[in-house]
Amino acid sequence: MIRIGVIAGDGVGPEVINVSLDVLAQVARLEGLEYSLHPVDIGGERYLKTGEVLPDSAVRDLRGMDVILLGAVGHPGVPPGVLEQGILLKLRFDFQQYINLRPVRLFPGIEGPLRGKGPDDVDMIVVRENNEDLYVGAGGFLRKGTPEEVAIQTSMNTRAGVERTLRYAFDLARRRASEGPFRGLSESDRGRGLVRQVTMVAKTNVLTFAHDLWMRAFDDVGREYPDIKSDYQHVDACCMRMVVAPERFDVIVTTNMFGDIITDLGAVLQGGMGLAASGNINPERAFPSMFEPVHGSAPDIAGKGVANPLAAILSLAMMFDHLGHTGAAGRVRAAVAGLLRQPTPRTPDLGGRATTIEVGQAVQSLIASSS
Ligand code: NAD
Ligand code: IPM
Ligand code: MN
Repeated sequence: MIRIGVIAGDGVGPEVINVSLDVLAQVARLEGLEYSLHPVDIGGERYLKTGEVLPDSAVRDLRGMDVILLGAVGHPGVPPGVLEQGILLKLRFDFQQYINLRPVRLFPGIEGPLRGKGPDDVDMIVVRENNEDLYVGAGGFLRKGTPEEVAIQTSMNTRAGVERTLRYAFDLARRRASEGPFRGLSESDRGRGLVRQVTMVAKTNVLTFAHDLWMRAFDDVGREYPDIKSDYQHVDACCMRMVVAPERFDVIVTTNMFGDIITDLGAVLQGGMGLAASGNINPERAFPSMFEPVHGSAPDIAGKGVANPLAAILSLAMMFDHLGHTGAAGRVRAAVAGLLRQPTPRTPDLGGRATTIEVGQAVQSLIASSS
């Protein structure tokens, strides 16, 4: 029995989660998987009604889950950070989900924004450190509200936290070797026995303490993986290259803050926020991992029924993978790929006129017809 905690959250969160739960039910039936759903009612509405952000009892309940599905949190009526920090970041930290895994893959049939770049060129995965850096909330104000005000926000980087993230990235690169060698390797790289590549993205030329630690750890860990090419890019150049030459990236490993930023850019390369999936992973499985679309609560389109549910559905596929149900994951991904090969139905973000529910139903028909 798979116990699944569900945080539908705010805005389009419930709209996309409901559709993914329908897909989950169908795939579980086909694969003979037993599961139970444990909805946790937290988010902006609850906060505005009761003042509660994430009660301890909810954390306890979620801790007993195998995995968590999350829609999005963030509410226009709630000051920025209250829900994001109080729910999302708290769960990522409390459950030691120190890897944020964000694939960037252009599906055939989707016209990406880059001229002349197709699915063979856009196929990378970002391993974002998810428990440290500027996200830890270390800092404070001095003389707040006065003209002499000072605000300090500190980036925390631990050798152990960085090293486990780097190791995860190199292991992932090895796993990707089963799909064939990385196409961006040169003849001479291949001649040296390299099969895949990890690009560390940081800013060693400015963050000469934090990213010096990252660089030394990268060199040390990289030596343990002689079959994987170690590559380094400064984050600014990385942004430029993701646009002009996405084909030069295989696995990217980066800090929490930079990973947040470059994965919105990555989302656009694969067709937009409506298609970008992610997993907050505790690789040791000591705590539940949490799967969520990269996008937020999208207040500008919430309530209209037109949010693209595919990012949430692809996050569900990542959940199945994490649980070892690769058959279920494959069914979901194949159906999404099949849907995107057709011109319709598509939600407005992909230039179509379909609703969230219609796209979900089309995914379900494709799953049904291929079983
Ligand atoms: P956003 O991702 O919610 O929206 C950015 C743009 O992408 C908007 O134009 C939106 O309409 C579009 N978009 C997003 N998801 C879409 C979908 N499924 N289909 C079609 N279009 C989609 O980012 P934002 O506007 O910066 O943030 C809104 C709120 O969400 C904020 O409160 C923010 O803190 C929060 N947020 C939460 C998460 C999360 O819970 N994981 C992630 C990002 C932002
Ligand atoms: C994301 C979001 C979150 C982040 C916010 C909402 C805290 O932008 O998941 O990408 O910065 O990690
Ligand atoms: Mn983000």
